[in-house]
Amino acid sequence: MQINNVAVIGAGTMGHGIAQVFALAGLQVALTDSDAEVLGKAIPRIQANLETCLEPGSVNEDTAASSHDRAAAAAARITLASNLADAVSQADFVVEAVFENLDVKREVLRQLEEHCPAHAVITSTTSSFCVRDLAIALSHPERFLVTHFWNPPYVIPVVEVMPGDHTSAEAVETTVALLEAAGKYPALVKKDVPGFVGNRLQHALRREAIAIVAEGIASPEDVDLIARLSFGLRLPVVGPLETVDLGGLDLTQAIQTYLLPELDRSTEPRQLIRDKIARGELGAKAGKGFFEWPPGRAEEVIRKRDEALLEMVRWLRDRGFLQTPRTLRVSETLRVSFKGRAILAGNLEGEALVTHVGFNAYASFYTSIHAQVEAAQCADSGNPELYGKNLTDKIICLPKTTGSTSAGAVWQRVAQMGIAPKAMLFSQQIDSLAAGGLIVADVWAGKRIATVDQLGDEFLEIVQDGDRILIREDGTVIIQGGQA
Ligand SMILES: NC(=O)c1ccc[n+]([C@@H]2O[C@H](COP(=O)([O-])OP(=O)(O)OC[C@H]3O[C@@H](n4cnc5c(N)ncnc54)[C@H](O)[C@@H]3O)[C@@H](O)[C@H]2O)c1
Repeated sequence: MQINNVAVIGAGTMGHGIAQVFALAGLQVALTDSDAEVLGKAIPRIQANLETCLEPGSVNEDTAASSHDRAAAAAARITLASNLADAVSQADFVVEAVFENLDVKREVLRQLEEHCPAHAVITSTTSSFCVRDLAIALSHPERFLVTHFWNPPYVIPVVEVMPGDHTSAEAVETTVALLEAAGKYPALVKKDVPGFVGNRLQHALRREAIAIVAEGIASPEDVDLIARLSFGLRLPVVGPLETVDLGGLDLTQAIQTYLLPELDRSTEPRQLIRDKIARGELGAKAGKGFFEWPPGRAEEVIRKRDEALLEMVRWLRDRGFLQTPRTLRVSETLRVSFKGRAILAGNLEGEALVTHVGFNAYASFYTSIHAQVEAAQCADSGNPELYGKNLTDKIICLPKTTGSTSAGAVWQRVAQMGIAPKAMLFSQQIDSLAAGGLIVADVWAGKRIATVDQLGDEFLEIVQDGDRILIREDGTVIIQGGQA
């Protein structure tokens, strides 16, 4: 299903940032909140976030102006709606991001079903509730699932995608494709469980951290220090299960045999937490929790956290740590249908290099380029030809789910590595060639490449890896190879 319009319900901490993610990917976004004051602050918050995310160094040192333009263009794609019905009347995809309260969420979902177009996919960014507990409110649960974004949603790459028993495969596929097009890394949670994966892991750690403090084993300061600067430091690069493998499963078995009986197994929050709450020590918002929070400290910590996260995500991306196994697996079907636009330098003829629909284009291309330049073995053992291929002189065909941001990132990466593909074809899902033009301006700064717009539905029907494509200046496209 093609997604053009996204609606986000709730413009708080998560909602405004989720709206930003989709707007930056070139989609039209309607944002609403029942609190007019929160809604009124949404656009300035988004503009401030965008300026940080698209700061000159984040895209290309030479293109501060176009980064600024992209931020402005993204913010301009967000419209504020004064009520839910208006926000979702045109929506193809909805994210519910209201309070974590089952009754409030169920009522919002009920209203969504009443006012959304029948084809719209409805999702919730709940932190904990499972799909079956929310879907009770719906007559059509087949179009509902959880999309658990992490805070701040415009920085953290992963979104957990959790379907329920009744969610249709199409709703899941549409959601995964949309998130990938928006530059996210969707991770599938295969069973409908409370807390999904991330919060189950996180709260297992928090339960033990609180128990350690409650039992006087270590101070809150030292618990956080140990977590941050020991295993926490390596988590972005080596996950917990990779760590098990590296150390050996026999070592994990030996440690767990001795240690697991000692770990906290409480099935409800500790008395320590109850006592603190009773004393009003609710954390940063109350000035005291485990730590003292004088005025301004929370804002300072959050600002530093977000700056550091942005840097870390860039670092991880630049070094190829953002590939998920899914992005490296090649489906047996390499046939891709393109109907869209091309960035090209006039007449050209060349071999098509096709990335598969549903892949994260940036990660795929990063893999191929990295594999080639570093002469490392291509990580994609299923199809080393495709991703280890030399991109020079190829016509790169991005999947139809690739938005302008990912397309720009691919183009930028290709340019940085001094690889010269002949052209890049991308789909009509990119909302306007303004986005395409900006990509070109961003990346080639000063060396403009002609763009061809509105080639029409017949522009490019089916392209398969290895097919040859001829594109004429008049827009005529000839595909040779004919395996379609
Ligand atoms: N904050 C996080 O770190 C985080 C992370 C992941 C997921 N979540 C989840 O995201 C959701 C939103 O959390 P948040 O932190 O953004 O909360 P928030 O309190 O900052 O924002 C929620 C917003 O929803 C609005 N709202 C409430 N009822 C509404 C209604 N009926 N119609 C329209 N708007 C309504 C509120 O006015 C508020 O502005 C929750 O389910 C939460 O568990 C939060």
